[in-house]
Amino acid sequence: MTDARSRETALTIPVYDHLPFVPVRAAGCDIITASGRRILDLYGGHAVAALGYGHPRLVEAIQRQSKDLLFQSNAVALDIRAEAAEQLISIAPNNLRRAFFVNSGAEANENALRMAFVTTGRKKMLAITQGFHGRTAAAAAVTWNSDRWYGFPMLPFDVDFIPRDDCDAAKKMIGNDVAAVIFEPVQGVAGAHDLSTDFVETLRAATASHGTLLIADEVQSGIGRSGQFFAVQIYGIEPDILTSAKALGGGIPCGAVLCSDEIAGHFGPGDLGTTFGGGPVAAAAIVAVIESIKAEGLLQNVRHRELQIREQCVVGPVRKIQGVGLLLGLVCDRPAVDVRDFLLDHDILTGTSDDPEVVRILAPLILEEQHVTRLADTLALMPPTTI
Ligand SMILES: Cc1ncc(COP(=O)(O)O)c(C=O)c1O
Repeated sequence: MTDARSRETALTIPVYDHLPFVPVRAAGCDIITASGRRILDLYGGHAVAALGYGHPRLVEAIQRQSKDLLFQSNAVALDIRAEAAEQLISIAPNNLRRAFFVNSGAEANENALRMAFVTTGRKKMLAITQGFHGRTAAAAAVTWNSDRWYGFPMLPFDVDFIPRDDCDAAKKMIGNDVAAVIFEPVQGVAGAHDLSTDFVETLRAATASHGTLLIADEVQSGIGRSGQFFAVQIYGIEPDILTSAKALGGGIPCGAVLCSDEIAGHFGPGDLGTTFGGGPVAAAAIVAVIESIKAEGLLQNVRHRELQIREQCVVGPVRKIQGVGLLLGLVCDRPAVDVRDFLLDHDILTGTSDDPEVVRILAPLILEEQHVTRLADTLALMPPTTI
């Protein structure tokens, strides 16, 4: 039998460039491949594997829930869904008191945008240059440069982009005609660029003074990755709506939109909906992920590992480090893809980004000191560029 890569390539739409290995198992922060390699995973399946792999509490929760009640839709209330909502609200900024469960980051943003239009009755949306919000119609419309692959014949609503970190432009562009501004506190796909504090504070103040809603897309930065449960908590602001996905289920697909009681009051039965969102297995995974982060002190671990990476990893090709927590961009003196490939040749998996010089670290929150030391030692082995 030919390997998984050639079988997939033959039968699926060829939109993904596969990395040159096939995982068969994973444990902790390690991926074990079909050829027997053990690869240190600092990419976590695109920021999903918050608890790494095979985490006992998560595995047990998924197994138990699958046996007890694999699925029921939102036509019925479930204790486990209520518990997931309680857990999620317990870690969110104080004003966010209501949850709507969905299946992915794009779906969370799609609903957040719709909620902003419905709540304000306005017709225009603002986003930030370099931002990424997903590939569905509305989420892609607020994604910077999505015209390269958008695919739909027209945008569903008016969109304009505030230049990243430009406070004056933000003040000029946010007006009474704008339903909401959507932003990532730390722009992940852009290369883990953390927005300036001034800019985020300006977004908050200007939206508040015009009755415009502020939507924080924490699909990549949320659920502990920043060293706080949500990156907005580092900036000390409360958004009106917050979206979450990726690490939320630790690997079980799920997402959520959080908002205030006031915004939730604009919606009644039938106004939003999904078949799978808030399903019992996803809800059990959400509870297990949040409980584990709390019980195992993982926020503190993220902050320690971030400091260690900042101290040890500006070596070899790395010129500086941007981002927060374990959403970091190693800014390199050469193409990121060369550094990513060198590290992978040494059994360390990292990612690239839209910035051709930035290698992205999206490691599990359980990352250990020895893993960072290994990353630093391996980076130091990379020969200098000849240019
Ligand atoms: C900030 C952000 N928002 C939204 C998305 C889209 O999430 P999904 O791929 O689950 O639809 C992503 C995915 O990378 C993301 O990084």
